[in-house]
Amino acid sequence: MDNEVNLRVLLKSRPVGFPTEEDFQIVESSIPEPEEGEILVKVEWLSLDPYMRGRMNDAKSYASPVEIGEVMVGGAAGTVVNSRSPAFSVGDIVEGRLGWQSYALSDGSGVRKVDESLGPLQTSIGILGMPGLTAYFGFLDVCEPNPGETVVVSAASGAVGQIVGQIAKIMGCKVIGTAGSDSKVQYIVDELGFDSGINYKTQNVGEALDEECPEGIDVYFDNVGGLVTDAVMDRLNIRARIAVCGQISQYNLKEPDLAPRNFGILTRSQAKMEGFLVFAYENRYDEGLNMMAKWIKEGKLRYREDVVEGLKNAPRTFIGMLNGENFGKTLIKVSN
Ligand SMILES: NC(=O)c1ccc[n+]([C@@H]2O[C@H](COP(=O)([O-])OP(=O)(O)OC[C@H]3O[C@@H](n4cnc5c(N)ncnc54)[C@H](OP(=O)(O)O)[C@@H]3O)[C@@H](O)[C@H]2O)c1
Repeated sequence: MDNEVNLRVLLKSRPVGFPTEEDFQIVESSIPEPEEGEILVKVEWLSLDPYMRGRMNDAKSYASPVEIGEVMVGGAAGTVVNSRSPAFSVGDIVEGRLGWQSYALSDGSGVRKVDESLGPLQTSIGILGMPGLTAYFGFLDVCEPNPGETVVVSAASGAVGQIVGQIAKIMGCKVIGTAGSDSKVQYIVDELGFDSGINYKTQNVGEALDEECPEGIDVYFDNVGGLVTDAVMDRLNIRARIAVCGQISQYNLKEPDLAPRNFGILTRSQAKMEGFLVFAYENRYDEGLNMMAKWIKEGKLRYREDVVEGLKNAPRTFIGMLNGENFGKTLIKVSN
């Protein structure tokens, strides 16, 4: 660790609307020493996720905001390089909420040892980590899909969406994805096996849905909210199920969008709309991880990663992800 420093990305100011790089501060500090009960992790991979935008606000949520001057929150994976905890040894490969920094101290809470036989280390914060588990439990538990049903998933080429669509195909469903570019639409159809895709930026989503699913929609896995969701809601079948996973179209608005007023659709279609958080399934994570690892080994589940080198690029890459510039799971390969 000679000549190395701890590079850290701090929250400098709370964004109004879309974040800018000026909302972050990159600092160098010395590599910390663990106290009794703590470990020091050299971070190799950092996951960038939409929920981090919410943590930049000083607003009530399911988790506390990042304070100004604190390290940005984030899932990361790396190697234990110093341990004063009986639960971890030097050399252990781990994953947890280690933050946007190249070295992280932790008391071990929320840190798990990674089984690298399941997949490469970075998958522990991707398909075999929080985003993959979100897709697995959100789709299978909340949406309760049946073979032959028609499923729509939004942000379909992203970290969560690409897995949802493939699990839907494994379950024998017809799957339509929405995404923000022609190349993303081509990818989900040609490489992931979705039945069709809609570019919501260039196509009329309602007309395209009428064409792609004339039989109506049984399941909607919603990652985005907004106009895409409005169009899906108008086309729900009787006893449809909607999983509200995320609403990324709303995260950077300066003023809240109009509240939904079309709940009569739920009455007419006797549909169920349910929000969920992946953390509620914590005691079943192993089930999801083992099943998805099996599907990957069998070639039934594929994943695309969007890797950017260097922690200094994390703010720019994060803002790009919120803008749809990522193509697949957004990851930072951390290096000083
Ligand atoms: N409930 C949970 O426990 C949980 C856990 C993880 C993630 N989530 C949610 O799941 C969703 C997807 O997360 P992810 O990690 O998989 O991110 P992601 O899809 O890999 O990246 C975000 C994508 O959102 C799309 N997007 C951005 N602005 C949009 C807009 N105005 N309208 C429509 N799409 C827009 C962009 O794709 P396009 O190019 O297609 O526009 C962008 O690539 C997010 O809403 C996130 O908050 C929820």
